Amino acid sequence: MKEALEKIEVSAKKLLEDISDAKQLEEVRVKFLGKKGELTAILKQMGSLSPEERPVIGQLANKVRADIEKALTERAAQINAEESEKKLAAETIDVTLPGKPCRIGAAHPLNKVLAEVEEVFLGMGFDIVEGPEVETDHYCFEALNMPKHHPARDTQDTFYINDNVVLRTQTSSVQIRTMEKTKPPIRIISPGRVYRSDAVDATHSPLFHQIEGLVIDKGITMSDLKGTLELLMKRLYGENCKIRLRPHHFPYTEPSAEVDIMCFNCGGEGCSMCKQEGYVELLGAGMVHPKVLEGCGIDPEIYSGFAFGIGLERITMGRFNINDMRLLYENDTRFLGQF
Ligand code: DAH
Repeated sequence: MKEALEKIEVSAKKLLEDISDAKQLEEVRVKFLGKKGELTAILKQMGSLSPEERPVIGQLANKVRADIEKALTERAAQINAEESEKKLAAETIDVTLPGKPCRIGAAHPLNKVLAEVEEVFLGMGFDIVEGPEVETDHYCFEALNMPKHHPARDTQDTFYINDNVVLRTQTSSVQIRTMEKTKPPIRIISPGRVYRSDAVDATHSPLFHQIEGLVIDKGITMSDLKGTLELLMKRLYGENCKIRLRPHHFPYTEPSAEVDIMCFNCGGEGCSMCKQEGYVELLGAGMVHPKVLEGCGIDPEIYSGFAFGIGLERITMGRFNINDMRLLYENDTRFLGQF
C-alpha cells in the first residue's frame, strides 16, 4: 500500500506537468482526490490493515494528499498566469496603426453659393427674410401688377392649389409681404424655393431656387441697382467679370432689365456655351413700379427702389462650370464631393 501511495503521488505530479489548462487541472484533481479518485480508493482499504500499519499508512496518505493538493494549487497559479498572459498578448492594440477614415460631408454647391451671396449682402446691410412657398394669388401675381389674365402670367406655368392659392412661381411675392409690413428704408434679400410646371431637362426643373432682392429708400436709382449687382458678380466670379443690362419687361418694375454676365468660357468673343452671344443671361431686375409701391402703401413721389430676382441654380452652374441642372438634385456623392 505504501508503494501504491507513492506511485499515486508520482503519477499525479507527472500528469500535472503535462496539462495546460484549467479544465485539465480539474480532471487531475478528480482523478486523484475526487470521491471516486485513486487516493480515496486506497483510503477505503485502510480497514484491512493491521493496527501497527494503520497510523503509518494513514500519515503517509495524508502527506500524499497534502502534496498533491499543494502541487495542484501551484500548477493552478501557473496556468492562470499563462492564460492571462496569452489573453493579454491576443488583445494587444497597436496604437500606431492608422485610424479608420470617417467620411465627412460637404455643403451642397447650391448652399455654398447661397452662403456667398448672403455674405455679400449682409456686408451691405441687407436683412435676409423668408416667405411662404404656398402663396396666395395676391402676393404671387396680383400685387405685383399682374392681374388675372395678364399675359405675363403665361410665362410662369403655375401649380395651382385652388383658384386663389398657388405654389409660388417667384420669390417676388416676398417683396410685397415685406413692403406691406415694413416702412422704408428697406434692404432685403429673400432666398427660397419656387415652383413651375416645367418638364425636367438640363436647364429646367419644376422646383428651383431664387434669391429676391429689394431696396426701397429716398433717391434710389438704376445706378444703385447696377452697382449692387456688379459688386455681387465680382465677388462671385472675380474682379474681371463684366455685366450688362439689357432692356426687358416685367410688370412690377419700370424700367426693367435683364442682366447678363460676360461669358466665362470665351470672355465675350462668342462660343457654344453662350450661343455666340458673348454674354449669358443671369437675372431679372428693375426699378420697382410706382403702382406696386402704391399698392403697399409707399408713396412713389417720396420713395423709389430697385428689385431683382436671381436664379440660384444658374449662378451656381456658372460658378462651378456645371453643365446640367439635374446634377444638382440627384445627390450623387461622387458629384457633390467635388465642391
Ligand atoms: N420674378 C422674375 C422671374 O421669376 C425675376 C425678377 C425680375 C425679379 C425682375 C425681380 C425683378 O425682382 O425686379 O423671372
